[in-house]
Amino acid sequence: MRKRARTATLPLGSSDLVPGSGETGVLGGGSGLRLGILADPHLVPDDHATDGDMARYRSALRRCVREGVDGLALLGDLSWSGDAASLEAGLRLAARTGLAVRAVSGNHDLGEWEDALAEAVRRVGAKNVRLATPAGEVFGGEDVRVTGLCVASDNYGYTARSDERPDVSGWGEETVVLLSHYPMISFRERAEREGVYYGDNDLENLEEVARPLLSRAAPTVVINGHMHMRDDCATEQVLQISCAALTQPPFDLTLLDLKTGGGRISVGVERIPVAPSPDDVRLSALSPARLRWVFEEGMWRQAAPKPEKQAAR
Ligand SMILES: [Fe+2]
Repeated sequence: MRKRARTATLPLGSSDLVPGSGETGVLGGGSGLRLGILADPHLVPDDHATDGDMARYRSALRRCVREGVDGLALLGDLSWSGDAASLEAGLRLAARTGLAVRAVSGNHDLGEWEDALAEAVRRVGAKNVRLATPAGEVFGGEDVRVTGLCVASDNYGYTARSDERPDVSGWGEETVVLLSHYPMISFRERAEREGVYYGDNDLENLEEVARPLLSRAAPTVVINGHMHMRDDCATEQVLQISCAALTQPPFDLTLLDLKTGGGRISVGVERIPVAPSPDDVRLSALSPARLRWVFEEGMWRQAAPKPEKQAAR
C-alpha cells in the first residue's frame, strides 16, 4: 500500500513562489481561486519545432503567468510515451513559472513504468511542484480544497486503485476541486450524439470511483483531460469541466475562476487556444469557449459568462 500524503495547508504567495515572480491572488475567503489548466500536451523528447507540442506547452505556461493565475494544474499525458526526459522537461518548465503546480498522471505517462510521473516529480525536486493527492490540500486556509486522482495501475491507469481514489471522508463541507485525467462523469452519450469520437476511454471502474463524489452533499468541481474535448456537465452536486488538449485542435489552455461567498459558488471557464487550428478540422468542442456555472440552493445551474476582456495580451 502506498502512504497517503497528509492534508496540508498551502498558503500560496509564500513558500511556493519564486522570489520576485510576481503577485498572486488571495485564495479562499470569498475572493476565489484562479487556476491555469494544461491538459494533454503529449511532450516528446528533443522537440525543437516552433509549432510543436513543446512550443505550445511553453506558450500556455507563459499565458498562465500573464493571466495572473494562482496555480497551475497539469491534467496528465504530460508526455507522449512516459519517458523520463519529456516528463522532467515538462515539470521543470512548469516549476520555473514560480506558481504552485499540481499534477496528475495520464495513461500516456504510464507508457514506460507506472510511477514515472511521481518519480519525475521527485527527481525534479522543485518545491512548488507536487502530485495532487486524494486527500488534497486546503488553499489559503479557507474553504476550497484541491485534490487529485493520480492513476498508476498496470493497465495504463484505466483502473483507479482504492488508494488512489478521492478520499471524500476527509473533505468535510468544503468545496472541492478534483483534478483528474479521466472524466468522473461519462459524457459518451452526448459525444456520440454530436458525432464526436469518444471510444472506450472511460475508467474501467468509473462507477465505483465516482459514487462517493456523487454522494457528497457539498459541491465538487471535477476538472479532467484525456478525452481531448471541451465539455461541461453537472450531475447531483458534481460539476465537471472537461478540457481540450494542447496537442491537437483547438490547442486549448483553460482558465478556471472559482469564487465562493454569500452561500454561492461561481465557476467561470475560459478556453484559450494557444495556436491556430487548421480551417478544415472539426474541433472537439461540445461546449463553448466561455461559460459559467453557479452553485446555489444546493444545485448547479448554467449562468451567463462574464463579459470578454479586450484583446489578448
Ligand atoms: Fe491525451
